[in-house]
Amino acid sequence: MSATPSPTRKKVTTHSLRAKKERGEPITMLTAYDYPTALAMDRAGVDAILVGDSLGMVVLGYETTLPVTMEDMLHHCKAVARGAKNAHLIGDMPFMSYQISTAEALRNAGRLLQEGGMDAVKLEGGRHVASTIEAIVAAGIPVMGHIGLTPQSVHQLGGFKTQGKSAEAARQLVIDAHILEEAGCYALVLEAIPDRLAELISQRLPIPTIGIGAGASTDGQVLVTHDLLGLFDRFTPRFVKQYATLHVEMARAFGAYIEDVKTQRFPAPEHAHQMDDEEFRALLAALEAEEQWGVGRKA
Ligand code: KIV
Repeated sequence: MSATPSPTRKKVTTHSLRAKKERGEPITMLTAYDYPTALAMDRAGVDAILVGDSLGMVVLGYETTLPVTMEDMLHHCKAVARGAKNAHLIGDMPFMSYQISTAEALRNAGRLLQEGGMDAVKLEGGRHVASTIEAIVAAGIPVMGHIGLTPQSVHQLGGFKTQGKSAEAARQLVIDAHILEEAGCYALVLEAIPDRLAELISQRLPIPTIGIGAGASTDGQVLVTHDLLGLFDRFTPRFVKQYATLHVEMARAFGAYIEDVKTQRFPAPEHAHQMDDEEFRALLAALEAEEQWGVGRKA
């Protein structure tokens, strides 16, 4: 299977995403971390694929996204880029890849495009990351912002909790959204904030907002694919709609395989490679002759 661009679909860009907002057409985005998932999603026609640092939790089994490294991100970005040719591809900047210095942030953002094959990067935070975003955008790299529940700050936020519930907290998020747009973000992820606040921000900004746990009024929606598919069995956030229960289906398939091998129902004759009767007789004769002459085990 090769991932050639679909002749009927154009590559989705930062410009086409903005045009979708202007036309009032919902933007679809999902996370992917590997080649077959990216290929299937791209063929299904998703607008954007995020190689999220959520891979730390749903693929690598960490408790949070904090242990994810640039090397982890690059490894998965490369696989996704090989699978998806039409969707707009965004690589998440992992914890500590953009906080230490602007120079390091710039180098790491560049690596996600140059080595990872991404079209854009995403990083978490409000006004405190505005100057970093400006520098990355000035280098010609599109940046998607991310405010509300920012999982890399889970310890500061006191857990994976809804943000912006009080008038003052909500006002701060509105200010952050404007600052990020002015810093040059082409789109903004709004995670786990009240729907009315997400609607307000989406109306005030010219750039598309992509919501996750932010209600129905954002310009687009994103879900972590492992949540959507029911592949992550630790917990499912309340805002997720599960479209399959693949964890259960995988457990069923693995159990059936183990049972088949134990009871010798697998492999059946149709799963084996056949050898011509004549060739097999010749093999037996050759082995017998060699044993008679004491040759044995010679190439
Ligand atoms: O890492 C991720 O998957 C994300 C989404 C939840 C937006 O940042």
